[in-house]
Amino acid sequence: MSTVKLCVNIDHIATLREARGTSYPDPLEGARICEESGAHGITVHLREDRRHIQDRDVVELKKIVRGKFNLEMALSDEIIAIARKVRPDQITLVPEKREEITTEGGLDVAAHFERIRSAVKAFHEDGIVVSLFVEPDKDAVSRSKETGADYIELHTGTYCVLADAVGGDLSGDLPSGVKRELDRILRAAEHARELDMGLNAGHGLNRHNLAPVLAARGLDELNIGHSIIARSIYVGLSAAVKELLAIIAG
Ligand code: PXP
Repeated sequence: MSTVKLCVNIDHIATLREARGTSYPDPLEGARICEESGAHGITVHLREDRRHIQDRDVVELKKIVRGKFNLEMALSDEIIAIARKVRPDQITLVPEKREEITTEGGLDVAAHFERIRSAVKAFHEDGIVVSLFVEPDKDAVSRSKETGADYIELHTGTYCVLADAVGGDLSGDLPSGVKRELDRILRAAEHARELDMGLNAGHGLNRHNLAPVLAARGLDELNIGHSIIARSIYVGLSAAVKELLAIIAG
C-alpha cells in the first residue's frame, strides 16, 4: 500500500468563480469535500495577478484545512509578506510569469539563489516548511538542498505532456520519449533521497499518467489540481479525488 499523500490544488474552483465574479463555486467548500474524500491536504497558488485564488481565500483556508495547507507562491515581496502573516503549513516557491497560462518550468534556483535562501530562512523562522518547485534535474536538486529548503517538488509537466500524447493507455512498454522523461524524474527523486530532502511531485498529473510516477522512491506528496477539478464536472469532486487516491493506493 502506497503511503504517498495527495494534496488537491483547488485553484480552478476559484477560476470558475472569478470567470463570473460570483461568490460560487466556493474554494472553501471544495477544500472541505476534498478532505472529507480522503485528500491529505489542500494546495492553492496565490498569484500576483490574483486571477483565481484571492487573499481572503488564503486567510479562510488556513482556518478550515485540517491536513497540510500548502501555499504556492512566487518570490515576490508582497506575497511573502502575506504568507508570513497567514502561516500555511508549507510554502512551495514557484516561478511566475504574468502572461503564462500555468506555471511553466521549475525555479531557476542557481539564478535566484540568495533570494531563495533568505526567503527559506524567513519562513523557517515562522515555523513554515519550504518546498522548491524544480525541474527533474540533479543540479537543481543539489542547489535546492543548499538553500536550506526542506522539500523539492519535481515538475512532472514535460513527462505528462508526452505521456498524454500517447492517448491514455500507459500499461505496456512506454514510448522512448515518455520513458526518458520518467527516468529523469526517477533519477532526480533518487538524488533527493541521497540528500535527505523531502520529495513532492506535481503538474499535469491525471488518472492516466499518474501510476508510473509512483515508482519514484521516497515520494511523499503529490500536488494535483486541474485534472481533478476538470474530472469533477462529470463525476463530482468527491469521486474525482477518490479515483486518484485509489490509483495511489495501487
Ligand atoms: N505543483 C505546482 C508547483 C503547480 O504550480 C501546480 C499548478 O498550479 C501544480 C502542482 C498542479 O498542477 P495541475 O493543476 O496541472 O495538476
